[in-house]
Amino acid sequence: MEPVASGIWKLRLGTPERVTPVSLKEKEILNDRLEKLPPAHSPPICEGEIQFKVTRRGCVIELPLDEEEQIFGFGLQFYSFNQRGLKKQIRVNSDPVADTGDTHAPVPFYISTRGYGVLVDTARYVTFYCGSHTRSRLKPDAIERPTMIIEVPHVQGVDLYFFSGPTMLNAVQRYVLFSGGGCMPPFWGLGVWYRTYALADYNVAYKHASYFRSAHIPCDVFGFEPGWHSHCYSCSYQWDLKKFPNPDQMIRDLNKLSYKVNLWEHVFVHPTAPFWQEIRIFSGNYEVWGGLVPDFTTEAQKIFADYHEKNFLLKGVLGFKLDECDNSDYRPQPWSFPEVTEFPSGIDGEQMHSLLGILYQRTIWSIFLKHNKRTFCQARSSHAIAAPLPFVLYSDLYNHRDYIRALVNSGFSGLLWSPEVRHADSAEDLVRRIQTAVFSPLTLINAFQMKNPPWLQYDIEKNNEDILLENYKELEHTVRRLFELRMSLIPYLYSAFARYYFEGIPPVRALPLEYSDDSETYRIDDEYLLGDSLLIAPLFAGQQSRKVYLPKNTTWYCFWTYRRYEGGRTYEFKADLERIPIFVLEGSLLPLAKPLEFIERNTCFEINAYVFGEKPTKFILFEDDGETYNFEKGLYNLVKLIWDPEKGGEVIREGSYPETKYKIIEWKQVKSP
Ligand code: GAL
Repeated sequence: MEPVASGIWKLRLGTPERVTPVSLKEKEILNDRLEKLPPAHSPPICEGEIQFKVTRRGCVIELPLDEEEQIFGFGLQFYSFNQRGLKKQIRVNSDPVADTGDTHAPVPFYISTRGYGVLVDTARYVTFYCGSHTRSRLKPDAIERPTMIIEVPHVQGVDLYFFSGPTMLNAVQRYVLFSGGGCMPPFWGLGVWYRTYALADYNVAYKHASYFRSAHIPCDVFGFEPGWHSHCYSCSYQWDLKKFPNPDQMIRDLNKLSYKVNLWEHVFVHPTAPFWQEIRIFSGNYEVWGGLVPDFTTEAQKIFADYHEKNFLLKGVLGFKLDECDNSDYRPQPWSFPEVTEFPSGIDGEQMHSLLGILYQRTIWSIFLKHNKRTFCQARSSHAIAAPLPFVLYSDLYNHRDYIRALVNSGFSGLLWSPEVRHADSAEDLVRRIQTAVFSPLTLINAFQMKNPPWLQYDIEKNNEDILLENYKELEHTVRRLFELRMSLIPYLYSAFARYYFEGIPPVRALPLEYSDDSETYRIDDEYLLGDSLLIAPLFAGQQSRKVYLPKNTTWYCFWTYRRYEGGRTYEFKADLERIPIFVLEGSLLPLAKPLEFIERNTCFEINAYVFGEKPTKFILFEDDGETYNFEKGLYNLVKLIWDPEKGGEVIREGSYPETKYKIIEWKQVKSP
């Protein structure tokens, strides 16, 4: 075992492959931050307890497991939470059909309730048997210990990384800090996103954009779907000039309405793309939808990035939605490239499938970094060591419960996931889905199939015939209020992201991450923590009530009524269309801003600070320009909100950022009824 950083060890077994997630890592390990975590003096698993062998199938590793030990992680898992006793082959896929391990973001990283994490540094489709199988006994009365069996196909060896705790959260923090820290979105990225009708032309798009402003519905990001390309499957990366005769002017028009423009695309390069010829020799030997698949570990990265910089970033585009970079196995006509594909760098199709998401994200992020602009984008695939990448995973194919389970699981692997809203079965379903989106890393309405926003008509066919709901004004009002709630959370969420960036604490976390000594939490896959002090319990359409478990040794206040609840118990709450159960941890200060319709360069948030409990811990607002990387050079403030029961509220601003982004208007001491 070789120490690589504070509390992190590497074990090289056999001869690993050249290209792995860690080999592609660009950001430095955040050593100074790791040093601040509780020290760990020896690896969480002894080398002598680890078995390894190379077989004709690849290689096999066995790690000891305790009888009681529970396992979480493996990236964005949709269909299970606690992985103990399960078998997972983690493989990138766009439409997982069962709980086998297929997902948009299969991360070969897990954490254990014993307080450690293990990363298997490979781009292969690894299988984990999480204590599900036992070896034959050598003697009839011998007892075999449970083990974690890990099979990595095709390889002669692999590096394992061990991340110490002592808590599960510390292990995740170490993994994220090892990756280079979490991403820091711009302020506007935390606002509301709307993706417009895929068949929209300039007039329709502009009409939608104007609608939000005239109806005073908050919206920051305006996204175009495939129809903006002159050829979209595969992509030409050029505007369809019949629909959008003057794209540069349109972007300026949208900017004038204070929108940030985001463009849909995928990576498959159509022959009409201006850089097709140039990128051809740096692409794989199979095509997808008639488009080349670039190998972004080669020159292809620069060709693709330069084109995007010149034609989009410099024209005012502030982000992209990187679609279809996962894989297709279950469709009647699988659309992606086969695993046998050969790429110029020597990578094969299996490795490329695992890595395409992160390689693509890096390519796009590089142009924003070059211009010192922060972006927040979407990607449909990711993998290990991805926390620094400013991308949120998405897909529109899931039922609401599976969206939530994925959200709850995402933090175990330091990932961000957006439970996006596409359409709904009823007004109630739409509201429930939007409520979840409001309390997630990215609030996204993906209306690519609809001529009108879904709250005017949630039924796609009627929507596209312009038959609006009779009570659409009511629904519109409810949605406006929900988006306003999102806007009021921006300073709180931004500070949660600062903790992700600096301390490796994911903004969305499952309960066991924070309360690992409460084993009741190991089964809770429909509640999660958002930021430091909120516990969210989503409701699903049709539910008359729901149970909420509050962790042991904690006290909570209902976000809406301020009623106080002791933890260690399950409560039943009646469903209410307007509100989902949300709880604020006793001992917190919650900053809530006056909601704005959008964020601008000079936005200053007017904040009320809510005091929950007698002696709350201070809340630290992260203050900077909200759109560049100047904070990395120290240009930021920590705005400390401090409550003293005798003296009241105090604001201490430390740092060198000259502007004020937060004005504290009022301190409100919450009284339980
Ligand atoms: C899907 C994607 C959707 C939407 C659609 C457009 O693959 O997940 O969100 O963008 O493509 O064709």
